[in-house]
Amino acid sequence: MMTLSELKLSHWKVETDTQNIAWLGLDKKETSMNVLSREVLSELETCIDVIEQNTPAGLVIHSKKKSGFIAGADVTEFTSFENEDQVYDYIRFAQGLFERIENLGCPTVALIDGVCLGGGLELALSCRYRIACDEPKTRLGLPEVNLGIHPGFGGTVRVSRLLGVFTGMNLMLSGRPLSAGAARKTGLVDFTTPRRHLYSAARQVLQTTPPKAKPRLVDRLLRLRPFRPLVARLLVRQVAKRVSRKHYPAPYAIIDLWKDYFDDRELMTVKEAKSITKLLISDTAQNLIRVFFLQEKLKAEGKHSDFVAHRVHVIGAGVMGGDIAAWCALKGLRVTLQDQSPERIAPAIKRAHQLFKKRLKKPRLIQQAMDRLIPDTGGLGVKSADVVIEAIFENKEAKQALFKKIEPQMKDTALLTTNTSSIPLAELNVVLKRPERLTGLHFFNPVAKMLLIEIVADSGTDPQCVHAASAFARQIGRLPLPVKSTPGFLVNRILMPYLLEAVELLAEGKSPESIDKAALDFGMKMGPVELADTVGLDICLSVAEILGQHLGLEVPQLLKDKVAAKELGRKTGKGFYTYKAGKLQKARLADDEAQPDIIRERLISRLLNEAMTCLREQVVASADLLDAGIVYGTGFAPFRGGPMHYSEQIGFETQKEHFIELEQEFGNRFHPDAGWDLLKKAS
Ligand code: NAI
Repeated sequence: MMTLSELKLSHWKVETDTQNIAWLGLDKKETSMNVLSREVLSELETCIDVIEQNTPAGLVIHSKKKSGFIAGADVTEFTSFENEDQVYDYIRFAQGLFERIENLGCPTVALIDGVCLGGGLELALSCRYRIACDEPKTRLGLPEVNLGIHPGFGGTVRVSRLLGVFTGMNLMLSGRPLSAGAARKTGLVDFTTPRRHLYSAARQVLQTTPPKAKPRLVDRLLRLRPFRPLVARLLVRQVAKRVSRKHYPAPYAIIDLWKDYFDDRELMTVKEAKSITKLLISDTAQNLIRVFFLQEKLKAEGKHSDFVAHRVHVIGAGVMGGDIAAWCALKGLRVTLQDQSPERIAPAIKRAHQLFKKRLKKPRLIQQAMDRLIPDTGGLGVKSADVVIEAIFENKEAKQALFKKIEPQMKDTALLTTNTSSIPLAELNVVLKRPERLTGLHFFNPVAKMLLIEIVADSGTDPQCVHAASAFARQIGRLPLPVKSTPGFLVNRILMPYLLEAVELLAEGKSPESIDKAALDFGMKMGPVELADTVGLDICLSVAEILGQHLGLEVPQLLKDKVAAKELGRKTGKGFYTYKAGKLQKARLADDEAQPDIIRERLISRLLNEAMTCLREQVVASADLLDAGIVYGTGFAPFRGGPMHYSEQIGFETQKEHFIELEQEFGNRFHPDAGWDLLKKAS
């Protein structure tokens, strides 16, 4: 009979120790992070064949990589299935394998140090015990819903038995990971321990096999057949507040599986496989998987440079500069924040404190972050900064004067950046001795929420500076999108025609509610009218006027009137909507008012057409980067995979015909961009 050590394996390092404990250590070949690929699972199956033949005293599954336990299933394989049967067979194979682990005749432990997500957590759940390293890097979660699917290797079945329904459902429905401590509290892991005790803890648990905690009585009651439909209804109501069943069916499927099949474990497992199969081949999941890879593409933009910043100097402590400085300090950098007076800096420091409190929780960590953020009215930080970020008023002369003053004080190697949203680099850098060093770091508002940063350059910019700026964006946990220094760059430029079309619709007498509903039905995260009110109608108008000059956009009179009347949106309590105590007041839509189809068509078509123009003018390097930027920068329906991908799915020819129809009815702002013909030919 074969022993474990005789197996020839590429991804697993296996051994049986002197206490007859089998150790299966995953070290997936040629990757920095462990994922469960088909090969990894096949090799695991071979190990389990041997273990079943010759039962050891215990089994430990652990990771040989420093980067964590297991990050999940191998997402690259999710797009390679040819048909439904292939998916189903694969899922059933993995489910069967995990069941065999669960049924082994010896105690089993998953030893979790670092990330343990998706399929990785499902594997851990098939072990009798889970021991987690009590370090901040340890994160346990089931993020499958973010990819439009749900756990499929028996996870929905095991989680709903192990944890109370609300805790278990929250884990699966939100996709949010838990820290080791939180996982211990909920019962997802049995023990937490400092890293140095991990291995001895595993041995001890295998030797003593402590009893497992049972779910609380109330949780056992809520699972009973008569209560399940009631609980399910409650859960559905919560999910419906965030996403619709039509656009994101996965969370609803999780609730349905539990409600309909909880009593019959075997049947629930089969249904789980059927359900995930259906979801995985759907457009929603395939597009969300696409967006996942697009995010990887953006991350890769930050890998062309070794640039690392230690000190950052931000000039301008307003809405943007203040929040940018706080964000950098949160991310561990030493930040000096400059403005004209201490009074102007104080509100930014106050907001930073709120942010640190929310994100860091522990007083010691909050204090450390506060210590890293230093008010600097004298601008002393310029000399020692690795990155200088200018975020003063949007005024060319003021910015030029500032650059002229600070350039001689800066370190030679430091990055000089501007957060301008509309002034071309070429107009700002003329005052510099080294104009090629100025790049744009265009953050979005609110800084702490928006993942994207546009890295702005023009033909004269030093590519090394662009790469370093992208690396800096990654250093502070953001996604860099390199764009050309043209008016509005990419995101604002594509958003503006869409927002202006919303104002046209308002001017025609459509209600803000019906316009926003049409956009939400399409899958946008926020309707355009609410978005305009949130950004501020004065800011919208000034961007529209600047962009309008360059792009030939007509600025609707209604927008000008609103600004003249000082109805600026949320901040003044009245814009296109009214706000009571900061809360938006939406009227109920009358049945005959909703004409979502034509409203949606008009809004989205403006956005798609501008996207095409940007691609043709090479504002970004590729259609994929454009899609990534628009999904992360505007909240464009992620399940549609980005504007260019969406257009491709509709068909470029159909798309163009559609624009022609709209042009005939509503005027030449819908005139199809020349790029549609180019793509049509290429496709
Ligand atoms: P803001 O008006 O809130 O803040 C500007 C701050 O700069 C003020 O506190 C002012 O005292 C300070 N300042 C002006 N001249 C200065 C100088 N010479 N030295 C030191 N401090 C000086 O402006 P906001 O909205 O933060 O915008 C700043 C920049 O960010 C602008 O270029 C804007 O276009 C850009 N931006 C704004 C966005 C937004 O949503 N507000 C989004 C993205 C970029």
